[in-house]
Amino acid sequence: MLILGIESSCDDTGASLVEDGRTLLSNALASQAAEHNLYGGVVPEIASRRHIENISAVAQKTLEDAGKTIQDVDAVAVTFAPGLIGAVLVGVNFAKGLAYSAQKPLIPVHHLRGHIAALYLAHATLKPPFLCLVASGGHSHIVQVDTYTSFKILGRTVDDAAGEAFDKVSRTLGLGYPGGPAVSKAAKSGNPAAYKLPTPKVEGAYNVSFSGLKTAVLNQVNQAQMRGEPVNVADMAASFEYKITDILAEKLLAAAKDTGAKQICVAGGVAANSQLRQTLLAGSKALQAQLFLPEVSLCGDNAAMIAAQGYYEYQAGNVASLNLNGMPTLPIDYDAGDFNI
Ligand code: KG4
Ligand code: ZN
Repeated sequence: MLILGIESSCDDTGASLVEDGRTLLSNALASQAAEHNLYGGVVPEIASRRHIENISAVAQKTLEDAGKTIQDVDAVAVTFAPGLIGAVLVGVNFAKGLAYSAQKPLIPVHHLRGHIAALYLAHATLKPPFLCLVASGGHSHIVQVDTYTSFKILGRTVDDAAGEAFDKVSRTLGLGYPGGPAVSKAAKSGNPAAYKLPTPKVEGAYNVSFSGLKTAVLNQVNQAQMRGEPVNVADMAASFEYKITDILAEKLLAAAKDTGAKQICVAGGVAANSQLRQTLLAGSKALQAQLFLPEVSLCGDNAAMIAAQGYYEYQAGNVASLNLNGMPTLPIDYDAGDFNI
């Protein structure tokens, strides 16, 4: 079954063709990161406008790259939640128009379920159940993936998402947006033990909190500036990266240990982080669990992951009518009936 995926929930306009949820045929993406970098973060109104400008060309490109036409496609899958609502609606309306005119089923895909499905494109043998840390710019969840379409949240951030913390620390250190790759690059030449940063306390065995960690970086930078002392950016980036990835890995591994999960995964933009990958590799070995990581190129937002999850949503009977609406927030474990999807 050939699925055309459409993604526009934040600052990337994507369209991709995936066969049976596992085989990537083409993957087109128009990133707006350079433009949003001018403002230090995503400007929602600009994001919506660029999606409108780019989406037709991106969809056309992915069909051409795969040597396919819309008639070869069996269904159109689209991110309908969660995300910047103006941005989400561009993709939803485009997908609705395409599905209607080409007489194809329309499949609603939850963006975070999509991030998890990026794993299926890299690992032909990976099947639920497994445990997954989903860490992106807007969310940080530890999720038990029971089936392709049923999820249980075991832990979550009580304040900032992991990616958001990277972005804010990056801004404090003057490293630009998106912060994750910038902080990680600076950290390469830094000493992770140079600055002492706190491990925030939080209720709930698998919950995390990053607001205090982010503020600790800000305070140390401000105090150094007031004293007229220089801040070693590489050392601070390394200290922060070490601390946040250590917390994420520790919580995921604790959840794996307690639930007896033997398949451990990471997904979302932060899954591209090499320090996190290394820490988890060592930790999963110690637990004798298998670690599955997405391709680095498919950790950030893309439409391939939406097409992949779309396949499994379709198999589960999750097909939307043309009344489908976008939603700014929606839990990953939503019940389609409750939301009239
Ligand atoms: O999943 P994603 O592309 O978009 C959302 O759904 O939010 O995640 C974007 C987030 C950003 O906060 C970005 O700074 C972070 O992922 N990120 C990273 C890395 N690459 C991207 N964080 C840490 N290390 C990275 N290498
Ligand atoms: Zn995302």
